[in-house]
Amino acid sequence: MSVHILAIESSCDETSAAVVDDGRNIRSNIIYTQIATHKAYGGVVPEIASREHLRKISSVVKLALEESGLAPSSLDAVAVTKGPGLIGSLLVGLSYAKAVAETLEIPLIGVHHLSGHLYGGVMSAQDMEPPLCALIASGGHSSIVYMPEHLKFEVMGETRDDAAGEVLDKIARSLGLPYPGGAALERLAEGGDPESIDFPRAWLGPDSYDFSFSGLKSHVLNYLNRAAMKNEEVNKADVAASFQQALFEVLSKKTIRACKERGVKQLILSGGVAANGCLKSMMAEHAEAEGIRFHAPPKILCTDNAAMIGSVAYYKFLKKDFNSISLNATANMPLQNE
Ligand code: KG4
Ligand code: ZN
Repeated sequence: MSVHILAIESSCDETSAAVVDDGRNIRSNIIYTQIATHKAYGGVVPEIASREHLRKISSVVKLALEESGLAPSSLDAVAVTKGPGLIGSLLVGLSYAKAVAETLEIPLIGVHHLSGHLYGGVMSAQDMEPPLCALIASGGHSSIVYMPEHLKFEVMGETRDDAAGEVLDKIARSLGLPYPGGAALERLAEGGDPESIDFPRAWLGPDSYDFSFSGLKSHVLNYLNRAAMKNEEVNKADVAASFQQALFEVLSKKTIRACKERGVKQLILSGGVAANGCLKSMMAEHAEAEGIRFHAPPKILCTDNAAMIGSVAYYKFLKKDFNSISLNATANMPLQNE
């Protein structure tokens, strides 16, 4: 008998609901993105985000159920992102999930957003069971995680300032691209030479697995400002390609070193930035050279979605690790064992 879990994700600017069987088989994964609403402001406006979630949550959940082909009475549990994220947005998903749990008298399972991103990789990989390492690179986080077994996480390194997606979005903006800029910057970079400008790589010493991208960000912004002051034309495609190269080289090399230190032969790249083809091929190449198996999920499981939350929840369900109806949402929470 399969375990059917309804999952809800509303931590930032996507309202999503999914039905997942046994942590892996996606029956439905409905994602309503608010990007068009926030575009005009150049970034996510928290107050607007929570109101949009409120407006959409019911229809998104209903659609996910409808598409799953299951009756609500067949659901075994309801899972929801408990944090980190925008507090008002998280509370919309959490309150809805509580109402479902109470009404259907099924367990409630709170899931950390980052373990969700990691399981977006685990659930879509063929036969990739822990131990493994993962690079989670999203709009809010850049973390290297060692996962010795299911639901156990050791954060080996993380960003000390901007997250990878955050710098991508900021540089994209200064290049005149719309929010969120990661994907548009990738397209622009395709026409550029990644070796044309030597932007700095912040290694932070030989032993560190942490990241710092504020120096790189300042360099790129200074490069653009200097050219603007001198009225010089810049080749934007070259800037985009060289910037990506500097950012991705640090992400890739540190992650591969982490795998080697833990003696791990499997690597997952996940989070919104994992949608980037250039980063994926760079990491795949570095991994192959070291005999490490590499997997990045399909785009739909990279950016925020509820299926990944349903996957983590399955493993918590097996342990009967349920939450009480008083579960609260938390805006800032480090990744810990689930
Ligand atoms: O995981 P996600 O959907 O939300 C967070 O949890 O933060 O990640 C969003 C981030 C944004 O910064 C966006 O620019 C970036 O992922 N992103 C990309 C691409 N698609 C989305 N970055 C680089 N290349 C892409 N193709
Ligand atoms: Zn995310």
